[in-house]
Amino acid sequence: MNILHINSSIQGERSHSSRFAGLIVERLRAQYPDAKVTFRDIGGQPLPLLDPAAVGALFTPADKRTPEQAARVAQSDAVIAELQAADTLVLGVPMYNLGIPVQFKSWIDAIFRAGVTFRYTATGPEGLVKGKRVYVALSRGGVYRDTPLDAHTHYLKTALGFLGMTDLQFVFGEGVSMGEEGLRKANENVAAQIAALTV
Ligand SMILES: Cc1cc2nc3c(=O)[nH]c(=O)nc-3n(C[C@H](O)[C@H](O)[C@H](O)COP(=O)(O)O)c2cc1C
Repeated sequence: MNILHINSSIQGERSHSSRFAGLIVERLRAQYPDAKVTFRDIGGQPLPLLDPAAVGALFTPADKRTPEQAARVAQSDAVIAELQAADTLVLGVPMYNLGIPVQFKSWIDAIFRAGVTFRYTATGPEGLVKGKRVYVALSRGGVYRDTPLDAHTHYLKTALGFLGMTDLQFVFGEGVSMGEEGLRKANENVAAQIAALTV
């Protein structure tokens, strides 16, 4: 098993999503002691934004890129290679202002590459990142699961699914800002969901 573990909280040691994602990795490691884990903290060490310079670099043919442009593309290439090398992903994804952290979006922006991680065919888009099992640890102050307000989960399913990652299991850490009792319940629910994961 080759696990890619990515945390995207900006709250360091205080992060609940990182703690929940860590518990998922522990569960996997208990089952697969030889698992290799590659860890990336994109909340603490963000990937660069997809900005005009980045788009310019990506759309310039490789042999015409400046050294800066080549370096920018190489950085995204490395993120894609890391994804391709993994068979299992564990993603810690907080909810900030009803959506994913901008730092997680930068990772999504790095891995969406036409012709490499997806392609357009005569019948529509096809994801090329196949055969991955993905665990997503969510953390939210409130409770949104199975309500129309849960654009957070919907976006993650859509974006990862677009690339071919459809074997998704979500762990919902909800109500963590709803007082001590709310956090206690969230922790209890998360533990039960992690115990019930298919690994
Ligand atoms: C900047 C910011 C925005 C937040 N926005 C929301 C929100 O829209 N809805 C919600 O339920 N909780 C919100 N929260 C609470 C977080 O979802 C909660 O603290 C969660 O644990 C964050 O994940 P983390 O602990 O891994 O950073 C927000 C927290 C922060 C710091």
